[in-house]
Amino acid sequence: MNGNPAVHNQWSSRLAFMLAAIGSAVGLGNIWKFPYITGEYGGGAFVLVYLVCVALIGIPVMMAEILLGRRGRRSPINTMRELASAEGASPWWGVVGWGGVVTGFLILSFYSVVAGWALAYVVEGGFGAFQGLDGERAGALFGELTASPQRLIFWHSVFMAMTMAVVANGVRSGLERLVTWLMPLLFLLLAVLVGYAMAAGDFERGLHFLFDVDFSKVFMSCDEAGLCEFTAEPVLVAMGHAFFTLSLGMGAIMVYGSYMPHDASIAGSTVMIALADTLVALMAGVAIFPLVFANGLEPGAGPGLVFVSLPIAFGAMPGGQLFGTLFFVLLVFAAWSSSISLVEPAVAWLTENEHMSRRKAALLIGGLAWLLGIGSALSFNLWSGDEYKVFGKTLFDIKDYLTANIMLPLGGLAIALFTGWAVSRRLPEGELAMRSPLLFGAWHFVIRYIAPAGIVLVFLNAIGVV
Ligand code: PHE
Repeated sequence: MNGNPAVHNQWSSRLAFMLAAIGSAVGLGNIWKFPYITGEYGGGAFVLVYLVCVALIGIPVMMAEILLGRRGRRSPINTMRELASAEGASPWWGVVGWGGVVTGFLILSFYSVVAGWALAYVVEGGFGAFQGLDGERAGALFGELTASPQRLIFWHSVFMAMTMAVVANGVRSGLERLVTWLMPLLFLLLAVLVGYAMAAGDFERGLHFLFDVDFSKVFMSCDEAGLCEFTAEPVLVAMGHAFFTLSLGMGAIMVYGSYMPHDASIAGSTVMIALADTLVALMAGVAIFPLVFANGLEPGAGPGLVFVSLPIAFGAMPGGQLFGTLFFVLLVFAAWSSSISLVEPAVAWLTENEHMSRRKAALLIGGLAWLLGIGSALSFNLWSGDEYKVFGKTLFDIKDYLTANIMLPLGGLAIALFTGWAVSRRLPEGELAMRSPLLFGAWHFVIRYIAPAGIVLVFLNAIGVV
């Protein structure tokens, strides 16, 4: 069955695996990034493309990542290398694992800064700073935070230390307990927020914005003279976000799969993980946009959107001080369980190859990501000027854009090609162990043709070739 003896801890059950994978998937991507890019790219049509990407590319690729991880039972770098050599493919496939390690690094180095905002807002909320905020003052609260390099770096450091503390102690002891109670609670609080948006927000307008599909609004960009042309960028960003939000394309889900018990169903788990992740994102959107419109905020305001719109709601609702604080506590937890998975591929590799302790590995990786993260924090203040921008983007924006829209889809493409073409059909067939041969055939077709072609098409489209 399994080529390698298990060298790492395993999850105690399928449920534990699922919770950890959901913990990885659900994070800032759902609650911070999804609303803000949906706002920037104009709403419903963008959401639809994102959902199609989740279904057509995300779910099949997630199944591939999990099955490779479980078969390899090693860090993604060694899993790719060893499976390739066992199947007579080139050892160069190990590069996919390497790419993932680098991508994880880069993501963590801005993720941690945004998680730091959430930490800062725990304190703000706790001290009652949200009470009676209007749109303008909520904007000022956020502006003051991001204008201060010291505060941003401080909270970024706290979050990085939290992440590394869990990573150093090993996935099993650290994570299983954390995610079991956290996700349901976050979900509950989002439901409360949706209820509040329904009562106090411009609910109808929010829903129309999120779900009315008007392709011309999203995919046509018009200049001041009213000349419009088709723009492919929203498709690239929607696909990139499907990878980002599902933690795909860099080995996070692969390394979690390597700790998965052998008798658990991969297809079933994957669908549940994707559904949970999508539901959280949509709920966040449904909670936020009605508030955005009711308070005269700009949907395309950018990365601060959630941090400006939600505090207004907390400041006005009964019990808002408690709810607001609790919400940001939970957001921190959700980000925490995601950031752990961002470094796990690197830490797993360091501990199996270099005979390094988890503690040392965590310190090394965390230290480097922390250093890189300083640049992300400064992107909002000292380095926010035009002289520090490339293509009009700050360092923070560049890292966000490059990892989600280019590096993760490239990783996903490689994983799809590897699973579909480089290994024999028997490997995925045995590992997925699907009851219906028809269903397996369909998945295999998608992973060989549809997913790779989709990713390549979106890339070519974005650079204007097709
Ligand atoms: N999926 C996480 C989120 O939505 C981010 C993430 C990306 C985590 C890639 C691991 C790997 O917040």
